[in-house]
Amino acid sequence: MGISIKILDSPDDLAQFFAEDLVSRIKTISSDKSFSLVLSGGSTPQRIFRKMAATAKESIAWEKVQIFWGDERCVGPAHEDSNYKMARENLLDFIPLPSSNVFRIYGEADPQVEAQRYSNMFSVYVPSYLGIPSASLFMLGLGEDGHTASIFPGDSESLHSDKLFTASVHPLNKQKRITASMKLINNAKTIIILATGESKAAKVAEIYHHLPGWELLPASWVVPVHGELIWLLDRAAASKL
Ligand code: 6PG
Repeated sequence: MGISIKILDSPDDLAQFFAEDLVSRIKTISSDKSFSLVLSGGSTPQRIFRKMAATAKESIAWEKVQIFWGDERCVGPAHEDSNYKMARENLLDFIPLPSSNVFRIYGEADPQVEAQRYSNMFSVYVPSYLGIPSASLFMLGLGEDGHTASIFPGDSESLHSDKLFTASVHPLNKQKRITASMKLINNAKTIIILATGESKAAKVAEIYHHLPGWELLPASWVVPVHGELIWLLDRAAASKL
């Protein structure tokens, strides 16, 4: 299904587009199937989650949706850095999603042990395709250094891991992370990389145009094996394309 770019005028327009697109995707799944939605972390999704809660609250059969995370900081669920906390405060607390459909990464656990537990759990709940779990929709952000999920530049272990989830470390603040591997990301049916703001424009252009050094950026390695990749950008993030 390939790779495409969608450019929206503003972060708010992007959030609205994402929410409406998600509604239409979930409406297409048959009643006996689940929709595995893998959330990204950081700040970009906050606006999107709030828009989802506001516009999609009634229009999605949330009982069909299973929520996972593509990465988590190794902190507890109430910690200000927790991606789970951010999702709960901006989305989960406002939608009629059964708590049994929420699969939190235990950031408070030992990273290696949790990476394995989450890999096992993901394999149980998300149907496989070509022998690897294939998420319905995998949300990703883009770091200013070209990282995605918590796969950072230079971390070839996570980038090329044969595992589904691995432990990683943020190169600047040394915060321990748990992250989906590129192997898992690229086996999703749909991958959406979300980027807004001028600060992401250089990396978006470097990746998209394969400018010198592009191959060193983990987000460059997001290449769907059988599904689709959509770069969802606002004008500022697309300004150097
Ligand atoms: C995380 C994210 C990470 C994020 C990018 C972009 O846990 O931080 O998963 O990959 O998506 O760093 O972050 P912003 O949206 O805050 O720019």
